[in-house]
Amino acid sequence: MMKVTFTDSVKYQAITAAPVFTDNRHSAGADTLDEASAGAISRAQKGSRFSGKPGQTLEIKAPSGIEAQSALLVGAGDRDKADALCWEMFGAHALKAVQLSGADTLVYDMRGLDASASAHAAFGALLAAYRFDKYRTTLKDEKKPSITSLQFICDDSSTAKRAFAPLHETAQGVELARNLVSEPANVLHPENFAKRAQSLEEFGLEVQILDEKDMKKLGMNALLSVGEGSNFGSKLAVMSWFGAKDSKAAPLVLVGKGVCFDTGGISLKPGAGMWDMKGDMGGAAAVTGTMRALAGRKAKANVIGIIGLVENMPDAAATRPGDVVTSANGQTIEVQNTDAEGRLVLVDALWYGLRFKPRQIIDFATLTGAIIISLGHENAGVFSNDDALAGALDTAGKASGETVWRLPLGAGYDKLIDSKIADMKNIGGRAAGSITAAQFLHRYIDDTPWAHIDIAGTAWKDKSDDPREPTWATGYGVRLMDRFVAQTCES
Ligand code: BES
Ligand code: MN
Ligand code: ZN
Repeated sequence: MMKVTFTDSVKYQAITAAPVFTDNRHSAGADTLDEASAGAISRAQKGSRFSGKPGQTLEIKAPSGIEAQSALLVGAGDRDKADALCWEMFGAHALKAVQLSGADTLVYDMRGLDASASAHAAFGALLAAYRFDKYRTTLKDEKKPSITSLQFICDDSSTAKRAFAPLHETAQGVELARNLVSEPANVLHPENFAKRAQSLEEFGLEVQILDEKDMKKLGMNALLSVGEGSNFGSKLAVMSWFGAKDSKAAPLVLVGKGVCFDTGGISLKPGAGMWDMKGDMGGAAAVTGTMRALAGRKAKANVIGIIGLVENMPDAAATRPGDVVTSANGQTIEVQNTDAEGRLVLVDALWYGLRFKPRQIIDFATLTGAIIISLGHENAGVFSNDDALAGALDTAGKASGETVWRLPLGAGYDKLIDSKIADMKNIGGRAAGSITAAQFLHRYIDDTPWAHIDIAGTAWKDKSDDPREPTWATGYGVRLMDRFVAQTCES
């Protein structure tokens, strides 16, 4: 990952960026650049359409009087409204503007601004710098990122450095989630994902892996039924972080859908676009990335992450439409459609999570195509039996930039999954597809405050205007949960 440093000493070099606010109001840094270059900066601005709006940049090459190869003005918007997310965007836009320029260092002159502006700009720049190039062997040198180091000039560099330290861990959690989602399913199958989870012990997490034999003993046949057609063994990974003062305090439990590839099974999906289903473990990636972030920044909270890892394949041994399976809590399920497999994985993983008597339980899943019809790629869908929990998720979403939108649950929807021969069926028909999926999960939840977050529209995106989402895999959920934990468990 990128090297990030904070300094009090002013030295212009490589590419030096400075914020400009709306209507061309210079920051202290932009002002000094202008003075040092005998007005070259403001002359360049006059002849341009740059006005300091977010997303705008103006590069002034080799300005006289300063040693930098170029000065980069970056729009920071309205000065009075500049919050953490604005500084993230600022840092990200600056990095994007010069990532391939040939320069190895990007200096941000952040004088006159508080330490948190620098810390969040650095966080945004790291999110923007992410690439997944490991399988490209013919990438031309001029197409490779050149910036390898970010330097922040600030009034109080030690405070900025301290503010950045936890954000650096969060960024690495996001990076991990993105790597997991990007990885193809021939590489990241359930057994390898379990190994990746196990390797997080290096950050002080306790990791336990359940294999098929363990899960069989526990009666987790709903989860196991999804992996019957796969050559890889299904796994349940349990990652624990006990960082709260009271290590006995009830934990927050996070559960993730980890379908490493979803062909649909015998209810086979159409071929076009099926390749995206390597990302059907996006919920598990969000949980894993969150655990990495929390352990990395030594969060003062007790959190357990549980991920159900399976591959949904058609095969002679695969589950058939119409088969009835018994889940770990004894409820029977008529599997009418083997492509509605995520809920089968989740209910047994949720059941396992409830054994820890959690204060709250939250699941993440790329569960339904229908959530994309409802909300597009702007918000994840949230379903909850608890208004306070739904409210806290909304707040954390707004603060982190990973927003959620609540959808309803209700008895009328619940009836749609009644089965003629078993306790329930795993599909509810065309109407309200995301809601009936949530109702299915709801049948496994007791009085524990629970939220289900459907991230089918946000875990990956073919196109995003947000510079903090530079690749198909977004890592959605890590920033939301990191924020949620900070806000509800640590304060
Ligand atoms: N993994 C899919 C949901 C999905 C679809 C995620 C598109 C991302 C993009 C899930 O397992 C699935 O196939 N759901 C079905 C449910 C249906 C059979 C009731 C769907 O959404 O069509
Ligand atoms: Mn499916
Ligand atoms: Zn799926």
